[in-house]
Amino acid sequence: MTDEYEGAAEFYDHVVPYATRGDVEFFVDEALAADGPVLEVGCGTGRVLIPTARAGVTMTGLDVSAAMLARCREKIAAEPEKGQQRIDLVEADMRSFELGKKFALATFSIRPFQHLLTTEDQVACLTTIHRHLVRDGRLILDLFNPSLDYLVNRPIGVEQEEGPPFTMPDGREVVRTFRIVAQDRFTQVNDIELIYNVTGNGRSDRQVHAFRMRYLFRYEAEHLLARAGFAVHRLYAGYDRSPYGSTYPGELIFVARKGS
Ligand SMILES: C[S@@+](CC[C@H](N)C(=O)[O-])C[C@H]1O[C@@H](n2cnc3c(N)ncnc32)[C@H](O)[C@@H]1O
Repeated sequence: MTDEYEGAAEFYDHVVPYATRGDVEFFVDEALAADGPVLEVGCGTGRVLIPTARAGVTMTGLDVSAAMLARCREKIAAEPEKGQQRIDLVEADMRSFELGKKFALATFSIRPFQHLLTTEDQVACLTTIHRHLVRDGRLILDLFNPSLDYLVNRPIGVEQEEGPPFTMPDGREVVRTFRIVAQDRFTQVNDIELIYNVTGNGRSDRQVHAFRMRYLFRYEAEHLLARAGFAVHRLYAGYDRSPYGSTYPGELIFVARKGS
């Protein structure tokens, strides 16, 4: 299996919309309230995982990308010893894993679930997570809320600037652009490119992160959760816990409880 995030991993933590995304406090608070170990699914470079462990929560981070996990390990190594001891990292596919441990909470931050492109994969993932939760365990599923305007009007094939430029620690300047290469409205899968236009050290380079993502609508996600044995407890439109429907399109953040 190819590591889709291999080329993007070095830039990830410097991308301004990720570095300034207002979700970390939300996930830290939810993890503290869960009062038990937390599984961060698709933990990436530890953007949420590490601050949560720093707050005192025992964390397992699971990701399929060796490159993202390598970044995460580097960052964990710079944490105080106590924080380091609270974190386990596992390289695995979210559709099928066995950790031999149960969690009070499982979380997805910045939409890793949308990397699953079929209903079978989505159900397999949710069922696997369900098995890893304690009796009243919870799941937080952070999804993109597809607005009709976005689906109809976002131009296909056009490269657009995405977020402000940023500077890497070694001085290279990066402008990130974004392109929907193709949109399949039947399968709800978009072919996407995030392009890192890098200049510095006397050269310029284009690093293309190509991947596919499936968008889900609210009731579709509710049915999927129910199929896997979850009951929706809360549905938010933002990390400030504003209720779904208060802003359009807003986010689509499910807090679900393990039903049985
Ligand atoms: C957008 S990043 C989010 C990273 C992190 N949660 C954050 O908030 O910064 C998505 C992550 O999902 C991971 N991922 C994608 N497909 C996966 C799979 N099948 N199993 C496990 N992780 C996966 C990617 O490797 C990547 O690290």
